[in-house]
Amino acid sequence: MRKKVSIVGAGNVGATAAHWIASKELADVVLIDVVEGVPQGKALDLLEAMPIEKRDVSVIGANDYAATANSDIVVITAGIARKPGMSRDDLLNTNFKIMSDVIAKVVAQSPESILIIVSNPLDAMAQAAYRQAGFNRERVIGMAGVLDSARFRTFIAEELNVSVENVTAFVLGGHGDTMVPLARYSTVAGIPITELIAPERLEQIVQRTRDGGAEIVKHLKTGSAYYAPSAAATEMVEAILKDKKKILPCAAYLEGEYGISGYYIGVPCKLGAAGLEQIIEIKLTPEEDAALKKSAEAVKELCAVIGV
Ligand code: NAI
Ligand code: 2OP
Repeated sequence: MRKKVSIVGAGNVGATAAHWIASKELADVVLIDVVEGVPQGKALDLLEAMPIEKRDVSVIGANDYAATANSDIVVITAGIARKPGMSRDDLLNTNFKIMSDVIAKVVAQSPESILIIVSNPLDAMAQAAYRQAGFNRERVIGMAGVLDSARFRTFIAEELNVSVENVTAFVLGGHGDTMVPLARYSTVAGIPITELIAPERLEQIVQRTRDGGAEIVKHLKTGSAYYAPSAAATEMVEAILKDKKKILPCAAYLEGEYGISGYYIGVPCKLGAAGLEQIIEIKLTPEEDAALKKSAEAVKELCAVIGV
């Protein structure tokens, strides 16, 4: 039997994630949105592309969560997105209300599912989803680090004129201005980038990575990034559905790892059939450790505002 992935929020990120998932034939897809007609129209359009793409999957759109029953994975992208001048944190209260509504309905239909949270501000929304769903932490994971690392990898590959396939990079911490791109653990064909890029230039690339979301918002003006974010969520979906045991930077609920307890923050995670199967603890320098803790403090402040 084919796997089933539901995506809540049939906007830019949600619909594009449906596109990636269907075109990779990973699972049957259900698109859900509050707006009538939008998930149905986008799902049917995508389904009609499947004969061309030679993919046998079902894609349906609905407003009623009954269609999502017994999903293996539910990706939550519902909410408002950034516009120029807005930070991710400006979305907090509106998206918290939306998240609470969505989680109750998702859990009622798919009590065994794994949740991948995408809505911003990401770490606080993952925390809200975790608290409300009542699932163990293995089944509520936030997407941000895969995206932020992909941006870092893109800029490194461009800088050195090498294949993106040669570049690995890690961005930890919260998905915001305090994120922690770890240059020391980022490599090109195994060579640390600190040996290939001068420190001042590397700092510029790190800053561009931190500002990566805002750079796209500035271009688009009416919304935020969605191709890379949806590809990032799809990589997480694939790692889980195929039980790949893949190590990816994801937002996970920490219980003492990295000296942090009771909050979601981006750390290296092993994803497999059970969802979050392991949090990998790497040794940080005192500066990196301080940056991660500062990032966790920023997440903590947002969580306090919404009481999660
Ligand atoms: P969008 O505005 O294109 O789509 C959001 C969709 O959610 C809309 O179709 C809207 O009708 C729907 N929606 C609103 N309330 C809903 C509810 N109660 N139930 C079901 N659907 C509902 O926005 P976009 O660009 O798709 O972004 C979605 C979210 O993902 C935003 O919060 C954005 O900030 C976040 N995001 C997070 C990233 C990350 O790295 N974690 C990266 C990119 C976006
Ligand atoms: C991004 O980083 C807005 O969080 C979104 O593009």
